[in-house]
Amino acid sequence: MNILGLESSCDETAASVVSVENGVCKVLSDIIASQVETHKVFGGVVPEIASRAHVEAISSITKEALATARCTLSDIDVIAVTANPGLIGALLVAVNFGKSLAYANDIPLVAVDHMKGHVAASYLTENPPKPPFLALAVSGGHTSIYHVASYTDYTVIGQTRDDAIGEAFDKIGRLLGFSYPAGKAFDDLASEGFIKVGGYGNFKKSAIYKDKALYLPSPAINDGTLDFSFSGLKTAAINLLHRYTMKDIILPRAEFAARYTFEVVEAVAKKIDTALDFYKDLPLVLAGGVAANSHLRARLSAVCQNKKRDFIVPPFSLCADNGAMIATQGYYTFLAKDIADTSLNASAVDRIKKGETIGTH
Ligand code: KG4
Ligand code: ZN
Repeated sequence: MNILGLESSCDETAASVVSVENGVCKVLSDIIASQVETHKVFGGVVPEIASRAHVEAISSITKEALATARCTLSDIDVIAVTANPGLIGALLVAVNFGKSLAYANDIPLVAVDHMKGHVAASYLTENPPKPPFLALAVSGGHTSIYHVASYTDYTVIGQTRDDAIGEAFDKIGRLLGFSYPAGKAFDDLASEGFIKVGGYGNFKKSAIYKDKALYLPSPAINDGTLDFSFSGLKTAAINLLHRYTMKDIILPRAEFAARYTFEVVEAVAKKIDTALDFYKDLPLVLAGGVAANSHLRARLSAVCQNKKRDFIVPPFSLCADNGAMIATQGYYTFLAKDIADTSLNASAVDRIKKGETIGTH
């Protein structure tokens, strides 16, 4: 069967056709219109501009996805749309476009949770995980640890209480002069810092780590939960940067980026280590835009290796927002018989809440 996936929750308009044969998902097309250049000048996503750009792009992106997959709508068995969470005006574009397409062509429609979509990108790897597993979803808006009981049943077991991990990189990256989104540039600058001490593994023993002027606190909340708080780290980093400016001292940029990245990555590694101890034998999936971070990938891979757990991370091309991940999760939503109708509405709110298990989409 073929699933058309549509995504417009933030600043990427995306459409993809995924085929499923004998339970194996394969990407036939994956078309993305990124708005990054449009939002760059504002230093972040401007919701109204994002919605308008989605409206302009969605029709041609969908046509291109069908053409690349050598399909017409008559070959599509299910239409999957991201319905939550995200920017409401942006979400509404794919939801309404998908609803119209499904209604007019008599194709079943399914609503997909964006974060479940990110995790579903891992089903497109050569070694797809099978639930139950743990998933760490890290993006511009999320830092969540899920217990994934089935393809559709997710429970939050840890999360950020304020800023998301991607936001923590983007906001401080902006102060370093990087344009939005700053994640990749931050990653590269931190690499330079780690190279100076002979690699990430030597960082804690290094003079950079011990330099009091570069001190930053851990975002891992020390209260027995699996939660994070990135706002404290962010504020401390802003104060640190101010101090350097006020004293007119040149900031050791690479060292600072390494120190900041180290605190972020170590906090995540600590909580994942605890979660893996609690959920014995479960593998770990890393997903979302920040899953592209080279230091986070390497560190979590080492944590999993140490605990003898499988570590699954989607290829770089499927970490950021895309339609293929939505089509893939849509397949499982369809299997769970959670079919949407024309009353479907978008929701900006995160439906997966801590401690609650939510099923289907
Ligand atoms: O999942 P995503 O594409 O969009 C959301 O759903 O938010 O994630 C975007 C986030 C941005 O904050 C971006 O800076 C971050 O992913 N990102 C990275 C890297 N590549 C992208 N963060 C750290 N290191 C990277 N290499
Ligand atoms: Zn995303």
